[in-house]
Amino acid sequence: MALLIRNGEIVTVGSRIRGDVFVENETITRIGTTLEAPPGAEIIDATGKLVFPGLIDPHVHIYLPFMATLAKDTHETGSIAALIGGTTTYIEMCCPNRNDDALEGYQLWKSKADGKSACDYAFHISVTKFVKETESQLRQVVADGTSSFKIFLAYKNFFGVDDGEMYQTLELAKRLGVIVTAHCENAELVARLQQKLLAEGKTGPEWHEPSRPESVEAEGTGRFATFLENTGAAGYVVHLSCEKALQVALAAKARGVKIYVESVLPHFLLDKSYAERPGVEGMKHVMSPPLRAKHNQAALWNALALGSVDTVGTDHCPFDTEQKLLGKDSFVNIPNGIPGIEDRVNLLYTQGVKRGRLDLERFVDAASTRAAKLFGLFPRKGTIAVGSDADLVVYDTSYRGVVSAKSQHMNNDYSGFEGMEIEGRPSVVTVRGKVQVRDGKFIGERGRGKMLKREPSHF
Ligand code: URP
Ligand code: ZN
Ligand code: ZN
Repeated sequence: MALLIRNGEIVTVGSRIRGDVFVENETITRIGTTLEAPPGAEIIDATGKLVFPGLIDPHVHIYLPFMATLAKDTHETGSIAALIGGTTTYIEMCCPNRNDDALEGYQLWKSKADGKSACDYAFHISVTKFVKETESQLRQVVADGTSSFKIFLAYKNFFGVDDGEMYQTLELAKRLGVIVTAHCENAELVARLQQKLLAEGKTGPEWHEPSRPESVEAEGTGRFATFLENTGAAGYVVHLSCEKALQVALAAKARGVKIYVESVLPHFLLDKSYAERPGVEGMKHVMSPPLRAKHNQAALWNALALGSVDTVGTDHCPFDTEQKLLGKDSFVNIPNGIPGIEDRVNLLYTQGVKRGRLDLERFVDAASTRAAKLFGLFPRKGTIAVGSDADLVVYDTSYRGVVSAKSQHMNNDYSGFEGMEIEGRPSVVTVRGKVQVRDGKFIGERGRGKMLKREPSHF
């Protein structure tokens, strides 16, 4: 069926025009002014609204067995929450641990999403060890269309790789043209600092940040950059949280290292005082890298505006109150993660564009286009162009609301962003031409989402 979105302000990187977008068979086929719709076409009036390309979250955890428990969302709940919030594609971290077989893990992660997600999705495949079968397994995963790897320098003995394994992963990635995403914290230092703090009787969530200080993240970021430099691979630092680590990444970029930076919603909006709240309120704000001292937020916003922080993800990772309480006697047992897949677009728009920190085109770039380019989805995703998938967000800038666990669609009993005001929300969201959301309600087809096959592109 055909769809015409009429008279909106179409925002892409490099252009803002008032016009119409016409869609046939899942694809944008015309962009212009005063386009005529054939009989039977669905017509959406976007007068007074913005029209964005479908927004892309490059870092989510929907299925995640981690820290003796399992993240709460399914692809059904997570994708509906994503769409209501304006995200039409997400990239899920496929995270088999060191004891799992990587290929079996990949099939398991795929099976969790297959036929369940209401929006399109892709995977980053985590490399959590490098043994004799790893190269052939990764080749199979890449041939299957998953052309980005993930490594963890943190989480010793679970997801974490050592320097030798990092080298082997990057060296293979270079040969395959695959980008490697990395969680950059020094695992050994984290383990030692955790032991030291616990031995001093420091067990509450407020000690999570001191157990993983900024210098520990800066070291991990620097080591990753050095390994990129010496293998020639392309790398992407996930959830960079602080100015110290940012400076290290930017210094590497300045000397020609192919390094890109993602920061995630919690680090822009929440600071470490949230994790210092007593009891479970603090535990709800435990993630890694931790929430930081407030001054880091200005550094992240400035770098985002300049494009030196490339993308904004969420690191959506929902554990509920009961799960967080697994860490009531020791902060090292608090499941790490904060949910946010539903909130990213509205909070980034409000705190970024509305507060004058980001211009609209950079907002679209950071929330969609740049991730599409880095991860082999462009121009199918990440822009509004003839031939692109018709993933479109008609955005109502006159909407006013407040983030609350009571009204959210993510499967969790709290919101890390409770009470924050939003000044705008999607009024219509389409996935490949089908209207999936109207004004905060999912009205579409469950299970419509497809896994996106991506070619390697970082040779
Ligand atoms: O605290 C976090 N970030 N939880 C999810 C796992 C990860 O490190 O991305
Ligand atoms: Zn991580
Ligand atoms: Zn993550």
